[in-house]
Amino acid sequence: MTPVIWTFVLLWSIPLTTGGDTTVTCVFTADCLLPCQSPYHNTVKWYKVGKENAVYTFDNNEDHLEHQDVDFKGRTSLFADQIPRGNASLLLRSIRTVDEGTYLCYTSAGSEALKEIVRLDVKAPIKRVDIKYPNGEITCNTSDVYPEPIISWYDNHHNLQTNFTTETQKDEQGLFSLTSTLTYEEDEESDTNRDVFVTCSISFEDKSQNYTTSLKLAKEVDIYSGQDANIQCPVSRGDAGDYTITLRFGESSIILSQLANISEQLAGIDVRLARHGDVTLHNLDMYKHTGTYTCEMFTAQSTTQVVLTSVHIISDIHNFGIAEAFGASLTITVIVSLVIYCFCRLYKKRTREDSRENRVIEEVEEELEPLSGENPSNGRHSPSGSVHTE
Ligand SMILES: *[C@@H]1O[C@H](CO)[C@@H](O)[C@H](O)[C@H]1NC(C)=O
Ligand SMILES: *[C@@H]1O[C@H](CO)[C@@H](O)[C@H](O)[C@H]1NC(C)=O
Ligand SMILES: *[C@@H]1O[C@H](CO)[C@@H](O)[C@H](O)[C@H]1NC(C)=O
Ligand SMILES: *[C@@H]1O[C@H](CO)[C@@H](O)[C@H](O)[C@H]1NC(C)=O
Ligand SMILES: *[C@@H]1O[C@H](CO)[C@@H](O)[C@H](O)[C@H]1NC(C)=O
Repeated sequence: MTPVIWTFVLLWSIPLTTGGDTTVTCVFTADCLLPCQSPYHNTVKWYKVGKENAVYTFDNNEDHLEHQDVDFKGRTSLFADQIPRGNASLLLRSIRTVDEGTYLCYTSAGSEALKEIVRLDVKAPIKRVDIKYPNGEITCNTSDVYPEPIISWYDNHHNLQTNFTTETQKDEQGLFSLTSTLTYEEDEESDTNRDVFVTCSISFEDKSQNYTTSLKLAKEVDIYSGQDANIQCPVSRGDAGDYTITLRFGESSIILSQLANISEQLAGIDVRLARHGDVTLHNLDMYKHTGTYTCEMFTAQSTTQVVLTSVHIISDIHNFGIAEAFGASLTITVIVSLVIYCFCRLYKKRTREDSRENRVIEEVEEELEPLSGENPSNGRHSPSGSVHTE
């Protein structure tokens, strides 16, 4: 056994004055301070439970880092100027998930000693949760979070216990990614008449963070080409705090940060956003603007709300303006004329062919004339044939 381990064993076996236990929550990749105060500060030693070697050793006004645990190399420091004032806090830089655990601050001066226990928790906060509606399934996902998150699904605020599957993965840094899929079965009587409203909530077990994302599938908007469509955007409760509203269509998107009476352009569409999240899309084109409009709101309070509206545009002759109506009637006139013309040509050709056929028959009959004269019993007599019979 090395002297270092001996010290460690002694620490746990000799009764010492023990300060209060402290818990610190450190953010992944950030620097973190492990606090320790002691009136006995000739020697300061930091240990981590489960590690043989010390995290930090300070003795006789000097650092002794020859036996420092490899995991902590180059990431630790004490505040030398603060030690004489009884501040033996340890600074641990660029926090990793494996740094989580129980630390011990051992301080001594002569025959007096003190140990303090510091519990270190690591958090990689949930920064974003995405919700998607690909094909009858609603998926909700997040990534690079720590510790392992838990997920809940709600349908119109009722907790759904079943009908979803969740896949969790852990990367080499110990961070978690989670994807959950909800099989959503629409009631037959309500499938298109009612909005669908589903919420997924991803949180940590200690409830330190709870990120909720909701998806509303608004009922389809059916309009005629050239008309305006009214769709809904999420509205922030009380319009307080920081939030961003993004409206997307295909590859285009615009940010409507204020729910004010403003006008914007999206994919060539005049968009007007009124209060209460009502959005008017002006003068839509059947070919260019049929599809799904997505309006998303992100707030600083860990919520995302998404509204999907499918806009279905059909053409309608009654809705045409005068110019279009004139153009349409002109087109119809041209088509009708063409049809009549072709029909006439076909008819003429047919009559011409008919008369040519008749002429051929006449010629053949003329050639057969002598025979029919000798044989009057032949029943196949044309009127012209009988003229020549004497
Ligand atoms: C100990 O020193 C550090 C670095 O100056 C400081 O951030 C911390 O607040 C000090 N702790 C106390 C209890 O004074
Ligand atoms: C959700 O998953 C998609 C596809 O794998 C990915 O592009 C996206 O970044 C994920 N979202 C979050 C918040 O991690
Ligand atoms: C779950 O799905 C089954 C059929 O797949 C359905 O009968 C049941 O009502 C669903 N439950 C919930 C809570 O949606
Ligand atoms: C998260 O927040 C939502 C809405 O505020 C709430 O309904 C849900 O119960 C919370 N979930 C957890 C696990 O705390
Ligand atoms: C929004 O602005 C338009 C034109 O700028 C105006 O005609 C309309 O009355 C305004 N609506 C509201 C609710 O203020």
